[in-house]
Amino acid sequence: METSGFYKLSTEERMERIKKHAKLTDEEVKIITNGGSLSAERADKMIENVFGAIHLPMGVATNFKVNGKEYVVPMAIEEASVIAAASRAAKQTLPDGFKASADSPIMVGQILLVKIEDIEQAMKNLDINKKKILEIGGSFLKHVEIYGCGLKDFKAKTLDTDRGKMIVVNFFINVGDAQGANMVNSTLEGVAPSLEKIVNGTARLKIVSNLATERLANATTVWKKEVVGKQVIEAVLDGYEFAKTDIYRCSTHNKGIMNGIDAVAIAVGNDWRSVEAGAHTYAAMGKYEPLTKYYKNENGDLVGSIDIPLALATAGPAMSSNPTATIALKILGAHGSKELAMVIACVGLANNFAALSALGTVGIQSGHMKLHARSIASQAGAVGEEVDKVAEVLAKEKDFQIEYAQEVLERFRK
Ligand code: MEV
Repeated sequence: METSGFYKLSTEERMERIKKHAKLTDEEVKIITNGGSLSAERADKMIENVFGAIHLPMGVATNFKVNGKEYVVPMAIEEASVIAAASRAAKQTLPDGFKASADSPIMVGQILLVKIEDIEQAMKNLDINKKKILEIGGSFLKHVEIYGCGLKDFKAKTLDTDRGKMIVVNFFINVGDAQGANMVNSTLEGVAPSLEKIVNGTARLKIVSNLATERLANATTVWKKEVVGKQVIEAVLDGYEFAKTDIYRCSTHNKGIMNGIDAVAIAVGNDWRSVEAGAHTYAAMGKYEPLTKYYKNENGDLVGSIDIPLALATAGPAMSSNPTATIALKILGAHGSKELAMVIACVGLANNFAALSALGTVGIQSGHMKLHARSIASQAGAVGEEVDKVAEVLAKEKDFQIEYAQEVLERFRK
């Protein structure tokens, strides 16, 4: 898709380009530009006590080239600057772009076994009956085997808790292009009665783990010194050291990564809370650490990378019940959960690089406030060209009150 000067286009012109790029139908364009077609009736089928739906702005990040393929990345977010920052950082990786990979979509599901009289014997029984347990568990996944899904393995371990010894059995399940929670939970609930007999105990919790360590995505790229400048490279490296050694900074460092990751996950209708839970727990395996890594290579260029668990879906009920999400996925053009995870990991890395390079040099507030000023101008009633004119005055005067914006607007109109 032609993206140069994309930000200068009107929303209609942008939609026209995206329509052509993703081969959207008129109906799909209507759905996505009407602020989403999530009618109360449709939403009522998704959750409980529905009375409406909330809309978020959706934009596209441009310049993403991942493993040689170009992507237009839909992002749904209320915060200004995130999309611009991701697009700018991605542009600075061109012409090579990002390299990315993703593990097979294996999720971990846990069954907690309690009230076991002989823990040692129970552990032995689990081992002796391994084949049988895998067969029984696997039988609950037969209907999705054609999508590559299946029960791969399990591992049991004992837990010493304040309520005595317990056993946790971690099951490893390939969930294909689904997020996996439903598939995993159904399998666990299905196999639990057999486990109770095998260990002579009680199965308590039977639930997916959001710490998707078997489903990691990796992205890496090089920001060349000729493109970004030596000062930016030093700024990013200093910022990275700060996050590595100070947990208060590390929290915000990772939040900036999740700005990008969540925004894409939301746009394509995914469970971003599970992604958040997995990301931060993964960052805390050992001590809480940055999800990204940076170093300077022998040429003096900056190499950045990210490793992050990403349990994402390109198929499944949550997605298909939300037409806007389905269209956003079509725009993104990711075929399967692994490809989606690869692109999203790149967006997280790009947002982190953008934040560190701005924070360590010019700061983020001037850019941020310019965008904020546009939002205030429009809230004050400015339309069309008035928005930029009013915003410019607000940013120059550093006064972002609606009343002032209204005053400036009146002056222009007179
Ligand atoms: C703001 O939403 C995100 C940042 O604070 C991230 C960071 O500090 O790295 C700018």
